[in-house]
Parts: sequence; C-alpha cells; structure tokens
Amino acid sequence: MKKEIIFEKLAWKLAKAFEETENLEKLLKKIVELLADNVDYYDWVGFYLNDGEKLVLGPFVGEPTVHVEIPYGKGICGQAASTKQIFLVEDVTKETNYLACSPKVKSEIVVPIMKGDKFFGELDIDSHTLNAFDENDKRFLEKICERLAEKFNDR
Ligand code: SME
Repeated sequence: MKKEIIFEKLAWKLAKAFEETENLEKLLKKIVELLADNVDYYDWVGFYLNDGEKLVLGPFVGEPTVHVEIPYGKGICGQAASTKQIFLVEDVTKETNYLACSPKVKSEIVVPIMKGDKFFGELDIDSHTLNAFDENDKRFLEKICERLAEKFNDR
C-alpha cells in the first residue's frame, strides 16, 4: 500500500484517539501503538520526554532499550533536543553521534514536540529498513507532534 494511503487511514484513527483520550500519558501510549501497528516499517516507536535536564523514555512499542535517559546533544535524540530540529537519518551506520538500540535498526526519524520555544519531548521511530523515511513520514509525524504540543501546553 502507498504511504499516502496508509497515512490517510491512520490519520482518522489518530484523530479519534486525540478526541477520546483526555489523559496525556494514555494518549501517548495509544499513538505509539497505532503507529507501530499500522506502519510495517515502523519497528520501534517511542516518546522521549523532556524533564528539564535530559530526555527520559516515555511510552514505546518495540524491543526494550538501554537508553532510558539521554543527555541533550547525545545521539540522534539528544541532537534533536539541543537543535530543536527534525532528524531524518537514512543510514544510521553513517552517523558518528548515534546511540544504538538494536543492530537491526537501519534508519531513524526523530521529531521534536514544540510550541514556540517550549520543548516538551520528541517522537522517535526506528526502522529495520534502510532509508525507510521520506517527506511523507516527516509531514505526517510533524502534524502529530504539533497536535501533541497543544496538549502538553494545555496541561
Ligand atoms: N538511536 C537513538 C537512541 C534511542 S533508540 O533509537 C530507542 C539515538 O541515537 O539517539
């Protein structure tokens, strides 16, 4: 199935989750489950949350990771936190500042959750497929994180 179609269908399910889930922790859990269940190349999906000093692992689906806390600037997640930029990594073996979760992981995307200059955390997705993510993934995940930023901000 084409990515556009997968994301269109998934957008409905996500919209429902946003509407129906008041509790933010539960909403984060639902989002990682929906993403991991509906996109076959999303092999690890999780949130890292900003506690003001570092990133702390939140709800996730996939193999357990040793990286439950990540300092700003370390790895792809830490770099996304310190630069507040999206990181789309086609081939993780080419990265020098990278924290490996599993040798199976080939590519990764990290999208910050921000409102203005407030940084709440980020959505991190790993794939076992090389160069798995493109502009479609980026736009789709950005929209989710924009909506989530509103929820974090209203908390
Ligand atoms: N690869 C990430 C670490 C988190 S794991 O992918 C779950 C990084 O380099 O920051």
